[in-house]
Amino acid sequence: MSHDPLQILSERFLDAMRGAFGDRLPEGADPMIAASRNPQFGDYQSNAAMPLAKALGMKPRDIAAQIVEKLDLSGVAEPVDEHTIAGPGFINIRLDRGALAGLLDALDSPDLGIEPPESPSTIVVDLCGVNLAKQMHVGHLRSTVIGDTIARVFERLGHRVIRQNHLGDWGLPIAMVTRAVMDRAAKGEIDLDAIDLDELDALYKSAQKSCDPESAGEAAAENLARAKTTLVALQSGDAETVAAWKRISDITVNECVAVCARLHATVLPEHTAGESTYRDELAGIVDDLLSRGVAEESRGAVIVDLKDAGIAEPLLVRKSDGGFLYATTDMAAIRRRVQKFGGDRIIYAVDARQSLHFRQLFAAAKKAGYAKRPDGTDAQLDHAAFGTVLGEDNRPFKTRTGENVKLADLLDQAVERAGAAVKEKNPDLSPEDQRIVAEAVGIGAIKYTDLANDRVRDYVFSFDRMLAFEGNTGPYLQYALVRIRSILRKAKAEHGVDEAALGGDGAMLRIEAPEEKDLALLILRFPGVVRTVADSLEPHRLCGYLYEVSTAFSGFFQNCPVLRAQDDVMRLSRLRLCRLTGRVLESGLETLGIVALDRM
Ligand code: ARG
Repeated sequence: MSHDPLQILSERFLDAMRGAFGDRLPEGADPMIAASRNPQFGDYQSNAAMPLAKALGMKPRDIAAQIVEKLDLSGVAEPVDEHTIAGPGFINIRLDRGALAGLLDALDSPDLGIEPPESPSTIVVDLCGVNLAKQMHVGHLRSTVIGDTIARVFERLGHRVIRQNHLGDWGLPIAMVTRAVMDRAAKGEIDLDAIDLDELDALYKSAQKSCDPESAGEAAAENLARAKTTLVALQSGDAETVAAWKRISDITVNECVAVCARLHATVLPEHTAGESTYRDELAGIVDDLLSRGVAEESRGAVIVDLKDAGIAEPLLVRKSDGGFLYATTDMAAIRRRVQKFGGDRIIYAVDARQSLHFRQLFAAAKKAGYAKRPDGTDAQLDHAAFGTVLGEDNRPFKTRTGENVKLADLLDQAVERAGAAVKEKNPDLSPEDQRIVAEAVGIGAIKYTDLANDRVRDYVFSFDRMLAFEGNTGPYLQYALVRIRSILRKAKAEHGVDEAALGGDGAMLRIEAPEEKDLALLILRFPGVVRTVADSLEPHRLCGYLYEVSTAFSGFFQNCPVLRAQDDVMRLSRLRLCRLTGRVLESGLETLGIVALDRM
C-alpha cells in the first residue's frame, strides 16, 4: 500500500474514472493530480476532466461531476462539497489532517513504508572497475560511488544484489607491466614483497612507453615482442609469470578495497571478478557465435553485425591476429551474470564515454541469447552512464602536470579541509571527535556531490562548493540530522522523553501548522522516491528529496516550537515528527553510503 497521498489520490481517481465511464474510458487515461496552484482551493487538484471531454464528447464540468460522484476519499482527504468542482472542471481536494496523521503513523514502522517485494529480483551491479597496476583516479570515484548507491537502493528495496568489480587484469598492457616488474625484480631493482601501488603505477607507465615506437624508438619492437611472449606465458600458466602477475593483482585489489572502505562503499575482495576469470571462455564464445551464425568473419576478424538492432558499427569479438577484446570478455560476463548468477537486471555504472560499447554489447548479447533468463525473456541490461568530473577550467579534472588525480589524495584533501571547517564551527569537540567528524564530512561531501549531480552530466569539482554547510550538500544533510539528534537528546534530558516512547501510541501525531503539513507530505514520499531511484537509476533524485526534507524540517523547526510547545500532547507530536524526519534522513544517508553523525 502506498503512503503517499498523491499516489493514493491517483489510484482513487482512476477507480472513480473507471466507475463513471467503464469501457468508454480511453486507455491510459490519466487522473492528472497536481499540487494546487492556489492553497485556498485545497491541496491538490485533478485536471483529468478537460482532456477527457474531447475523448468522451461531453462537457468537462459534467465529466468532473460524474467522477466526483464515484470518488472515494476516505482515509486521505476531506469529503467533496459544492466547492469541489471549480472553473471549467478542476476537481479540488483538501487533505484530511487526521488522515495525514494516520498515514504518517502507518509509515512509522521499522521499514519506513518499504515493504519487501513479493518475489525479489537478482540485480547485478558492475561497479568500480579499476585496472591492474593503476591507482584509482577520480573517474573510479564515480563508478564506485554511483554503483554502490544503486546497489544499496536495490538492497533497501529487498532485492538480491550481486556486486561485480570488473577488474581490468588481462591482456597485453598487463603483460607489459608484468614483464617490467619481473625484469626489475630479477635485477634486484625492486622488491616484490615490498612494492606498492604507486611504484607499480609508475612501472605501468614506463612499460607502456617502452613498447611505443614514438617514445622508445628502435627498442619498442623488441619490448613489445617480449610482452607478447609474457602474455603467452601468462595464458599457459607459467608459474613464475603467474606469481608476479598475482602479486601485482593482490596489491591493486588490496589498495582498491581500502579506498572503497574509506569511501564507505561496499566493494570487497569477493566482489572482484577480473577480466582474467573469463579468459578460458573467450575462444568458446567466439566459436559459439560463429557456429550459430550470430557472428561472421570479416577481413580476418570476427564481428557481430548489429544493423538489425539499428547500430551501424558491428561488435568486434576477435581481432585478425586472433586476439580477444574488452567486448569479448564483456559478452562472457553477461552470460555468467544472467545464466549462472540468475541476474534479472544487470546494471553497469560506467563512464558515458563507453556508451557505444554498451549499446553494441547489449544488442549482441541479446542476439546471441546470452541474456536469456530461464523463462525465456531477456534480462534487463542497463548502462548507468555517468559524465566526466571537470576541473575549475571546465576540462577533465587533471593535476597541473596533466596526470589523473589520485583518488586517495583527493580524499585526504577533502578531509583536511573539512577538519579546518569543523574546528572553526565547533571548537569544543575533542581532537578524536574532530578527526571522526572531519573524515565523515570530507568523504561525505565528495560522495554527495558526485551523487547529487544529474548522473549523465559532467560536473565541476569544487571543494568550496561541496564543503559548504548551506545548500544541497553533504554537510548540510549531515547537519540537519545532527540537529534532530540533539533535539531528541534534549527532550530526554529536559523532559524525560525517551526516543522509544515516540515510536507509536506514546505520541499521537497532530498535523496542524502548514509547516507540519509540508514536512509530513514530504516524509510520506520517501518509499516512492527510493523506488523511483531504482527505476531510473538516478541517485540525484534521492539527494534532492533529502535536501527538501532537510529544508522543510528547518522551516518546521523555526515556526513550530518543539520543546517549548504549548502542551505535552503537542510537544510529543512534534518530537515524534522530529524523530520520523531523522529516521528518513538516516535511512536516506545510509542508502547513499554517507555517515550519519551525532555531533559536528
Ligand atoms: N576497467 C574498465 C575501465 O577502466 C571499466 C570496466 C567496466 N565494466 C565492464 N564490464 N566493462 O574503463
